[in-house]
Amino acid sequence: MSVGAVRGWVQAARRILVLSGAGMSAESGVPTFRDAQTGLWANFRPEDLATEDAFRRNPQQVWDWYAMRREAIAQVQPNAGHLAIARFQQAHPGRLTVATQNVDGLHQRAGSPGVLALHGNIAEDRWLETPRSCCRSDPPLPGHPPRCATCGNLRRPAVVWFGEMLPVAVLAAAEHAAREADVVLVVGTSGVVYPAAGLARMAPAQARVVVINPHASDLDDAAREVLRGTAATVLPALLD
Ligand code: APR
Repeated sequence: MSVGAVRGWVQAARRILVLSGAGMSAESGVPTFRDAQTGLWANFRPEDLATEDAFRRNPQQVWDWYAMRREAIAQVQPNAGHLAIARFQQAHPGRLTVATQNVDGLHQRAGSPGVLALHGNIAEDRWLETPRSCCRSDPPLPGHPPRCATCGNLRRPAVVWFGEMLPVAVLAAAEHAAREADVVLVVGTSGVVYPAAGLARMAPAQARVVVINPHASDLDDAAREVLRGTAATVLPALLD
């Protein structure tokens, strides 16, 4: 099937869900996780950096790794794929919902409204322990990580780590969008991390699930169509 035929599905759809993963931001220069050469997990072990245990064991190492990623992401720009999605949303309010596994904020910076950030946002942090009045009143002491000057509560990146629950309301909204979708565009994800990947399997039977990925993914079998291309080239062809 050609991009043109899939474009017909998209243009005729009443409700579209875009489920994006790290490949959505690859052409912005943000490394993916599982690419054998350049992936973040090729050079770091997730259990050493992306779990609460890792943070409690070595708060400075984890905080500094996220600070380094935060710095790098602040330098990059949304790519043509992010911008095509945002343009479509602005031209057709309410027809397209973005649910992203990415924490880079690039959909938001491209102008997409109502982005469902399933795994949080790397630009934000929050308290590790339930904050007390002292945490809320006193400014945190600067440090790696910052901490409450009174009780020592630590700040942590506001991202979802392995083994943690996704934000309940965000996941519920994404599941609702998946169940209502006529078209689901699954862009730039290996499809190996649940519950996010499961959204691609929640669409109604008559919905058209389209995978956009230059390589094979674990969600190819859920797709009515697989477009072997990149986010920044395929999405403008489908959405503009
Ligand atoms: N356009 C589209 N897809 C691309 C591009 C591109 N330019 N470049 C790479 N890809 C694809 C890869 O082929 C791969 O299938 O993007 C996918 C990236 O997969 P992962 O690195 O596994 O990233 P993702 O699927 O988002 O990981 C899910 O795992 O580590 C956790 O929380 C982290 O949100 C992340 C989750």
